[in-house]
Amino acid sequence: AFIVTENCIRCKYTDCVEVCPVDCFYEGPNFLVINPDECIDCALCEPECPAEAIFSEDEVPENQKEFIELNADLAEVWPNISEKKDAMPEAEKWDGVDGKLEYLEQ
Ligand code: SF4
Ligand code: F3S
Repeated sequence: AFIVTENCIRCKYTDCVEVCPVDCFYEGPNFLVINPDECIDCALCEPECPAEAIFSEDEVPENQKEFIELNADLAEVWPNISEKKDAMPEAEKWDGVDGKLEYLEQ
């Protein structure tokens, strides 16, 4: 599966959801996740993310590995999203900031 990692937090550009052929993105207050059981590994979403937050599971950076489980867990509880919406108001400011996991709202 593909995995949404930390740099999505507080950015949530949502360009990714528009290209997913199986609508397997799920939305929280300031982050999106991919349901790994539904993702068909088409790779279309990866280049669409302006924050470069999406990785193939086997290419997730070492310090982002906890996001693999986080995507699976949160996809069970958050609602589906399949249409692009406005990015978060301070998306540009937060893009690339380290340590955003502490701001994840569930
Ligand atoms: Fe959807 Fe394809 Fe991205 Fe998986 S890799 S989340 S199927 S766009
Ligand atoms: Fe997040 Fe990138 Fe999608 S910032 S909402 S994974 S386009």
